[in-house]
Amino acid sequence: MLRVRRFRVLLSDLLFYYRKEVIVENRVQWIYTSRDDKELLERYNQWAKDYDADLEQGHEYQGPQLTAEFFTRYVPNGARVLDAGAGTGLMGVALAELGYHDLVATDFSQGMIDEARKKNVYQELHQMVLGKPLDFATDCFDAIVSVGVFTGAHAPASSFDELVRITKPGGHIIFTLSTEAYENSGFKEKLFALESEGKWKLMETSQKQLLTKEGAGVYHQVWIYQV
Ligand SMILES: C[S@@+](CC[C@H](N)C(=O)[O-])C[C@H]1O[C@@H](n2cnc3c(N)ncnc32)[C@H](O)[C@@H]1O
Repeated sequence: MLRVRRFRVLLSDLLFYYRKEVIVENRVQWIYTSRDDKELLERYNQWAKDYDADLEQGHEYQGPQLTAEFFTRYVPNGARVLDAGAGTGLMGVALAELGYHDLVATDFSQGMIDEARKKNVYQELHQMVLGKPLDFATDCFDAIVSVGVFTGAHAPASSFDELVRITKPGGHIIFTLSTEAYENSGFKEKLFALESEGKWKLMETSQKQLLTKEGAGVYHQVWIYQV
């Protein structure tokens, strides 16, 4: 009798975790299949409260940790850093743990910003849209970091014009970019154009990897540029 009960508990645990995996995988697909910016924004606003639990626990999200490994090699503590497309602030938390405290967050989703504010790691948080003019002075950040934002149906390649403008000469822009967006959404051309115009210099790129366990099959690389 006891064995049957234990078997039933084990079976219901397995079913619970299987369902959770499917829900999270579907959620990533759901984001990636947004038809336009309006729908993407609505979906992030809806997802904001569950994002951390879904990605970190359900999906082994490693974007912030992976990017932080590169970030610390280029950016000294004390730097003023913009986390562009900060989402719920997971990158800010990773950076704060590494001793970076002059952090500013932007995102186009107010729901995500509200979650990021609860982390208490950012000095300022602003709703701003990448790809449009950013309300920051020229040359005002020592570094910019952006994780999971340059990928299918997300921020456009033209975002880098403004990110370069607000980075101090000698400062760094460190971001993840999906290999699919690099090839097919104008990023390859934009990154090369900025380099040939002398606006920035490529320092390093990482290996291709998934940011989450299955990652909806989308591979990313970390790119590091100096302005
Ligand atoms: C996959 S999440 C990554 C969030 C966070 N950087 C992280 O690593 O957890 C992508 C974020 O980019 C934001 N985003 C997408 N397109 C954007 C745009 N054009 N301008 C600003 N934020 C954007 C979304 O609202 C979302 O918070």
